[in-house]
Amino acid sequence: MARLTVLTLMAVTAIAACGGGNSSPVAPTPPPSSADTLKAAATAVNKLVGTAVQSRLLNGQYDAVVAREFTYITAEYEMKWNVHEPSAGFFDFAAGDAIVGYALSHGQRVKGHTFIWHGATPSWVNGLSPADFRVAFERHIRTVADHYRGRIHAWDVVNEAVADDGLSLRDTVFRQKLGDSYIADAFRIARAADPGARLFYNDYGGEGLTQKANRIYDLVRELLAAGVPIDGVGLQMHISATNRPPSTSIASNLRRFADLGLTVHVSEMDVRVNGVAGSTQMRLDAQRLAYYDVVRVCVLEPRCEALTFWGFTDAHTWISGDTPLLFDAQYAPKPAYTGVLDALRGR
Ligand code: XIL
Repeated sequence: MARLTVLTLMAVTAIAACGGGNSSPVAPTPPPSSADTLKAAATAVNKLVGTAVQSRLLNGQYDAVVAREFTYITAEYEMKWNVHEPSAGFFDFAAGDAIVGYALSHGQRVKGHTFIWHGATPSWVNGLSPADFRVAFERHIRTVADHYRGRIHAWDVVNEAVADDGLSLRDTVFRQKLGDSYIADAFRIARAADPGARLFYNDYGGEGLTQKANRIYDLVRELLAAGVPIDGVGLQMHISATNRPPSTSIASNLRRFADLGLTVHVSEMDVRVNGVAGSTQMRLDAQRLAYYDVVRVCVLEPRCEALTFWGFTDAHTWISGDTPLLFDAQYAPKPAYTGVLDALRGR
């Protein structure tokens, strides 16, 4: 009898779902409603929410998530010097144009990443004399900024120029060939080539109030005092769930950059969890909390304009052997995703 009631109920429900008994098939599960996306939640609190992408992946499930969830796009590696100018004077914008074109056609903004980074400098520059290096340096920034002019919201002009001990500038080929003034020069060249783009200094290890953060702070303060055109600071936020800066420390750090009149971006966030002891669930929960805490700090800081994750699916992350992102390798949202959504919603 009970079984019969259940079956009857199911039949009634099925008929109702089909719109009164016609023969149309039951509708497939709809994608998450647009009201429940990172895009909607971030836009409601006036933040950009971003991801790094790779041009070759912009199709299928990957494309569906990028289009649905994000408002801000960074090229993970395809807008760096070694890709843009593989040999002297020969520029290749194919991959960068694909990413920028994708973003603009989806109503998303673009973070240009990055003109000057020791980690992606083409090897042909290493043998140049200081004078020839300067010519190549200027031509690179000018040509790339000019190519994308009008399509870039903000450029990471210089990336990771401060040494890990926070005591000095990093000893790079730029510093060796051009001296410390290469940083100011890069910003001035970029501003002249694309006056509409916001210009950022971007680094890691300066998320909380560390010695390196102090050095980054001094650097940008000195640039501002010298009249160098800099608009913002990107804090990369490659963190670990077991060893992360306290929220209060990140909040104070963001505030002091904001007090200089700068905009702040969380620019490359991911959260490693391999160090978390215990079950898979414990790892997922610790990761959720780490994302929640950082996103909350940005939401509460008026000058924090953007939150960008360094990818979104564990199927494509630069951190090998870990699962640091918001979606699993099958593109299902993880607790970390809900953590970001809740933090954006103030829940
Ligand atoms: C990494 C990319 O994720 C890799 O695919 C690439 O091979 C090397 O660079 N800090 C940065 C990013 O500013 O550009 C780096 O991205 C990660 C660390």
